[in-house]
Amino acid sequence: MADLTPLLAFRWSPWAFDPAATLTPAEADSLLEAARWAPSVGNGQPWRFALGHRDDETYKRVLANLPAAEQRWARHAAALLLGAHLDATGGHRSEHTGREAYDLGQAVAHLTVQATSLGLYVRQLVSFDHAGLAGDLELPTGVRPLVVAAVGRLGDPFSLPEELRRRETGLRRRRPLADLLLR
Ligand SMILES: Cc1cc2nc3c(=O)[nH]c(=O)nc-3n(C[C@H](O)[C@H](O)[C@H](O)COP(=O)(O)O)c2cc1C
Repeated sequence: MADLTPLLAFRWSPWAFDPAATLTPAEADSLLEAARWAPSVGNGQPWRFALGHRDDETYKRVLANLPAAEQRWARHAAALLLGAHLDATGGHRSEHTGREAYDLGQAVAHLTVQATSLGLYVRQLVSFDHAGLAGDLELPTGVRPLVVAAVGRLGDPFSLPEELRRRETGLRRRRPLADLLLR
């Protein structure tokens, strides 16, 4: 394997979060600052976030809109972050379809690297009740929820349900580089 910077090499997405860990205000600021400095199309910065800390109202609303299977592990995260993006604003729609989502993804990628630098872990998910969460968080018109990132400290894999424990401790896999190169 070619060399990777340790911040990328050590990043991975756990299911087991430490149910006692909390996110300090400085850590939360640092994560959002990393997202803020991500590049974006035309420097449009179309990302928006709602950050819930365990047991606060935002956290409860985000958690309640996740599928039951995801709630099993997400409820132990120190924070639940909703990533949303502004609606595409007319213009060359066909040329630019998806660019706001692309920018949001890049901002969240920045955030995951910053999290690694702080000894924090992130698992993202996109399958949740988008309309329900937009309503529960009273998101402004034109702001589309896309991803929820569970953030926290690493927990005990033996606290997980059997099926998740097996996946948590299994080998992580990637396609070989040759498969990604089109030419
Ligand atoms: C946009 C996005 C959506 C994801 N959705 C889910 C999900 O619904 N449930 C889940 O357990 N993991 C989810 N993941 C985590 C991926 O499964 C994980 O990143 C992938 O298996 C690679 O593992 P790694 O992050 O440990 O390298 C998601 C990740 C991303 C980036």
